[in-house]
Amino acid sequence: TPYLEKYRSQFHFTPPANWMNDPNGMVYWDGEYHLFYQYHPGGTTWGPMHWGHAVSTDLTHWEHLPMALKPDRHGQIFSGCAVVDWEDSSGFFAGSPGLVAVFTHADQHPDTDRPRQRQSLAYSLDKGRTWTMYDGNPVLSHEQLTDFRDPKVFWYAPNRTWVMVIAAGDRVLFYTSPDLKAWAYASEFGAEEGSHDGVWECPDLIELPVDGQADRTRWVLIVSIGDRPECPEGSRTQYFVGSFDGSRFTSDAQPEAVLWLDHGRDNYAGVTWSDANRADGGRLFIGWMSNWKYANLTPTDSWRSAMTLPRVMSLKTGPSGVRLVQEPVSGLQKLRREERQWENVPVTPGINILSSEKSGTFEIECELELGSATEVGLKLRQSESEETVVGYNASAQTLFIDRTRSGETGFHAAFGCRHEAPLEAREGRLKLRLFVDHASVEVFANDGELVMTDQIFPDPGSTGLELYALGGEARLISLRLYELNSVYS
Ligand code: FRU
Repeated sequence: TPYLEKYRSQFHFTPPANWMNDPNGMVYWDGEYHLFYQYHPGGTTWGPMHWGHAVSTDLTHWEHLPMALKPDRHGQIFSGCAVVDWEDSSGFFAGSPGLVAVFTHADQHPDTDRPRQRQSLAYSLDKGRTWTMYDGNPVLSHEQLTDFRDPKVFWYAPNRTWVMVIAAGDRVLFYTSPDLKAWAYASEFGAEEGSHDGVWECPDLIELPVDGQADRTRWVLIVSIGDRPECPEGSRTQYFVGSFDGSRFTSDAQPEAVLWLDHGRDNYAGVTWSDANRADGGRLFIGWMSNWKYANLTPTDSWRSAMTLPRVMSLKTGPSGVRLVQEPVSGLQKLRREERQWENVPVTPGINILSSEKSGTFEIECELELGSATEVGLKLRQSESEETVVGYNASAQTLFIDRTRSGETGFHAAFGCRHEAPLEAREGRLKLRLFVDHASVEVFANDGELVMTDQIFPDPGSTGLELYALGGEARLISLRLYELNSVYS
């Protein structure tokens, strides 16, 4: 049976076979959500990059489509975006709207033999099914820069222009264009801001309402940073909240405390969907659920990597300022099969009220009152020898995932780890929403204020569940456990 291999995600997007990394070209068009992705069709490790392709109407069930973009005389196809060219500014569509992909062509510089990264276009006249390379490619190059990649483009209505944000080593650059073909340099951001633990990659710039108020918006600049051997976290994604005037991004906070989009180890290179307008003003996001530190080594056979769950991004004012909050897309609720429910139960050290539950693919929504417990949490994918712990340390006020005993961890020394992030309880209470699949756990804490996404590789037989408290008694306000159907069933 397809998609039943060991560790194959049952409700996360995976390529049918072979290697996948970054999500690319996400765009909503004519009733379909498109997802392209960095793809090496010739093997299960990173290699010559193509764009794989899938579409969905609910962001949960995906239909695989033939390869969208293949290497050509300008090189491999690195990461990039796709936009709806509503007014046919590009002239590719004889006056109608159509889809344009803007991506990095990567090859060797003919004179210096160093890597060269230039930006190119492709367009589709048939709902993204086939793509034509623009004969004027590349449309944007930079003589001085070796790292110059991952263009993300959006239409800035006040100036009636396209804006591109693109990664350039230790910063991002902004360009503007009337037609997607001719690009003019506008500004740069980041040399002095944020985390520089790795090379900057895959930026995105989006405008979001604050606290749901459409007339009060801030701009969010998302920047992924690459792995560096000396940083245990590997590759991760940061963001900045600020303003944008059509050519320049300014961060609200100076100096800037680093804001992490996800405090887990496996959410990288994520960006948002173009043209997926939502009534609530939120933006749809998806990330690559891996980490360059060990991405090529994870223990799957015929394919490698999954995407995170798609999430809705919004902005909320918190005690330390305006922050991103994330919520899994509502389409996932269709997968809920069986529900069990607990309410108002003490959580006593040594007693596990979930001891008769068993599941390998599930969702949990729960609210806990910490009481006198020093630590409280859930153990998942449990057996005699394995468990993944999602816990809250009440005195340190940190949420953690401990995957040191989560299953197969030996493929890289940094994988078997425990990592944590600050999270304040609200009036002594903690809310957790968890999604557990065959090879991952995603935690949305306190209504998505803090998110942790981690891969795990437990034995298929490790399906035990435990709700635990240490050092004192906690109280379960409520817990709902949903068995989740596979998207393949
Ligand atoms: C991020 C990244 C991008 C690049 C792509 C190559 O993971 O390194 O910067 O375009 O992957 O596959």
